[in-house]
Amino acid sequence: MTLAGKRVLLIVSGGIAAYKALELIRLLTKAGCGVRCVLTKAGAQFVTPLSLQALSGEKVYTDLFSLTDESEMGHIELSRAADLVVVAPASADILAKMAAGLADDLATTLLLATDKPVLAAPAMNVRMWQHAATQANLETLAKRGVVIVPPDEGPMACGEYGPGRLAEPPVILGAIARALGAGGPLAGKHVIVTSGPTHEPIDPVRYLGNRSSGKQGHAIAAALAGLGARVTLVSGPVTLSDPFGVKTVHVETAIEMLNAVKAALPADAAICAAAVADWRVAMQADQKIKKTGDAPPALTLTENPDILHMLAAPGPQRPRLVVGFAAETEHLFTHAAAKRARKNCDWIVANNVGGTGIMGGDMNEITLITEAGADVWPLMGKQDVAIKLAALIAQEVS
Ligand code: CTP
Repeated sequence: MTLAGKRVLLIVSGGIAAYKALELIRLLTKAGCGVRCVLTKAGAQFVTPLSLQALSGEKVYTDLFSLTDESEMGHIELSRAADLVVVAPASADILAKMAAGLADDLATTLLLATDKPVLAAPAMNVRMWQHAATQANLETLAKRGVVIVPPDEGPMACGEYGPGRLAEPPVILGAIARALGAGGPLAGKHVIVTSGPTHEPIDPVRYLGNRSSGKQGHAIAAALAGLGARVTLVSGPVTLSDPFGVKTVHVETAIEMLNAVKAALPADAAICAAAVADWRVAMQADQKIKKTGDAPPALTLTENPDILHMLAAPGPQRPRLVVGFAAETEHLFTHAAAKRARKNCDWIVANNVGGTGIMGGDMNEITLITEAGADVWPLMGKQDVAIKLAALIAQEVS
């Protein structure tokens, strides 16, 4: 079952994250799902009814006492014409009103009047999220059957850091699909994604590592889950939160990553986005290495197992699609194409890490190398790269 033909009533409440509702509407309509929007007064401070209308292709409702709306469609009917009511972003205020059963505007009246399942994706300042009142409201709502898509952790628009950022639209899309019993194109498929760096210990306090943030790999895992896949994300040490709806296995070293990947097999596809350390220290010291006043210690390195190469090797456990990444600073195509052949993988996502801000940043400029040749993508946000790549993976394995 897919989202095509389903109907979502999307309530957009106030908050800086309201702009992400636009992306959610785009994803829902692309999946064939009808979207009718209700915009709260606070939400209208951040997005306009016109943008919601342009993307949803439907009239946007804002006012409880609009006679036109009541004559066209009563608020009770508005809430019942949908298969699912989605509140995204859900502010601390609207969650409190939902928990208390208040009905003082169109959105809250609809939420009280509806007999349809409700899903809420909260977004707010970290302190508001952590406040006992908000947590108690969430508990009340969850007990009543409201599906909560938890917020991400990270730097916030207000300058603070922590949980409270609206979950990414593909993650909310996946939760909507699950709430509606719709599988998406990757339903029934298992995908393994590796992400982040690995840390190779030198002694109990020091390690060899790299600058990978895990943003691209985590976004791909979330986008695949959004298309209905069962995703196992094997992540090295990162500061990102675990994507909602994804099984995340945390590892430190390349050997731990290899073991976790092997344990997750079989899979229909494997995406190796991790920046695995090529080498580890041959003899890890049991105790902290001390300065002796003599020459600095020499580190002898030994090669790590190649997880991508292992996954792509012919055999009964080989996933149907194996995708590798190639971070290059020069001769992008030649190096990446050679890597594709050497590692026996089906696709290589090559990115130029020579420019500033690519590694660890939010943007990515990639070339997808397949048997058919090279496809150069424009500079895009890592979320957009993930959505585009997930759609191509779905075409290939579903
Ligand atoms: N990779 C892996 N296990 C390793 C090393 C790399 O799974 N031990 C995967 C990465 O996740 C990525 C791809 O292999 O998908 C490319 O890794 P990279 O280190 O860039 O390639 P190398 O073959 O090591 O080439 P070079 O370091 O010369 O660029």
